[in-house]
Amino acid sequence: MHEQGQAVMSNPTLMYTFVLRDDNSSVYAEVSRILISTGKWKRLKKDNPRFNLMLGERNRLPFGRLGHEPGLMQLVNYYRGADKLCRKASLVKLIKTSPELKDSCNWFPESYIIYPTNLNTPVAPATNGISHLKNNPKTDEREVFLVSYNTKKDNGEGTVWIAKSSAGAKGAGILISQDANQLLEFIDNQGQVHVIQKYLEQPLLLEPGHRKFDIRSWVLVDHQYNIYLYREGVLRTSSEPYNSSDLLDMTSHLTNHCIQKEHSQNYGRYEEGNEMFFEEFRQYLLNVHNISMETSILPQIKQIIRSCLMCIEPAISTKHLSYQSFQLFGFDFMLDESFKVWLIEINGAPACAQKLYPELCQGIVDVAISTVFSLNADALSTSPPFSTSPSLSSTSCSSPKLRAPQHFGPFIKL
Ligand SMILES: Nc1ncnc2c1ncn2[C@@H]1O[C@H](COP(=O)(O)OP(=O)(O)O)[C@@H](O)[C@H]1O
Ligand SMILES: [Mg+2]
Repeated sequence: MHEQGQAVMSNPTLMYTFVLRDDNSSVYAEVSRILISTGKWKRLKKDNPRFNLMLGERNRLPFGRLGHEPGLMQLVNYYRGADKLCRKASLVKLIKTSPELKDSCNWFPESYIIYPTNLNTPVAPATNGISHLKNNPKTDEREVFLVSYNTKKDNGEGTVWIAKSSAGAKGAGILISQDANQLLEFIDNQGQVHVIQKYLEQPLLLEPGHRKFDIRSWVLVDHQYNIYLYREGVLRTSSEPYNSSDLLDMTSHLTNHCIQKEHSQNYGRYEEGNEMFFEEFRQYLLNVHNISMETSILPQIKQIIRSCLMCIEPAISTKHLSYQSFQLFGFDFMLDESFKVWLIEINGAPACAQKLYPELCQGIVDVAISTVFSLNADALSTSPPFSTSPSLSSTSCSSPKLRAPQHFGPFIKL
């Protein structure tokens, strides 16, 4: 009999079970490996319903069936409804209609939801876009967009916009243009809802090479809806010079890893794999711009993450449900020339940079899984086990004025 079997036999109360149903998730393949290596977790066949933990397939999760197994506390690695943040059109709608965000959000580029005309969607009157959006589940904002487009053009506030498919990823289905009709025609020839967004025309560029980049931060939300920012982040850099006079030059404008890898002749020339990690960027900002990552950039990033996740908390929290959720998110940002942080998109099932897998996945196990299934009780543990876990250090603060960030392993609690 192999080791895991023995653990079950000798001490059944110390064994938990999980199913891994997503064969394509590299993050959860690693999480699964770590769980098994603890000797306290046993992997069940995919369709066995008697699991404690489901590492599920994001778009095929049986939420309705979770939490109904007698005597079993069940945890799943996605929040039902988190797609409100993770689809581009839903994010635009959320930002425009949520009471917490609609007036205060100045960190998301101006955006409009556009349905291809072949879908016969009602068009919002130009004067009354937002209330229309609230009352109608599907409303096309092309008229409101055109008003703003023309106003900006007349006022010299920028003429470049970007159209992207709501469910798109990896830089596919994107058009950047100064021509409003071209953008609308592009969308009208597609089969699904798009977003037209103000293009950030003055991004901060990296030297040498005069190159655009975006920033990926990983964020973990645990079953108690505590929000944790992973301390390490990565810049995805372009390896071609930024070229504002050629909007069709993909490698100059889209920083997606796959676009750079496939289309840039200079892929890997400036940074290995076109990735720059926070430590190097921290030094770069300080040396070249005299800007502190800690005091200028990270506070903006944290505030955006908090605002987004807190405004959907009432809708998606599992605190009072018969099952519990946690989720890893990838938040993507851009920086402009004045070091302002802009949210670009939120990914609900992010991959991870290669060298970060071991630490990030161990962090997920420690912070989001081991806190639910304590090793000496079958029931849901309500007290965080950080003080007993050797891999985690928790810093509490005594002075309310100088509130130090709380570190949980590789995470900072927001
Ligand atoms: N508003 C914008 N201004 C400037 N660049 C943008 C803007 N939106 C997206 N981009 C660029 O296009 C890339 C792809 O856009 P994104 O919204 O992340 O879609 P995808 O899901 O295809 O990754 C981003 O990584 C960024 O480089
Ligand atoms: Mg993206």
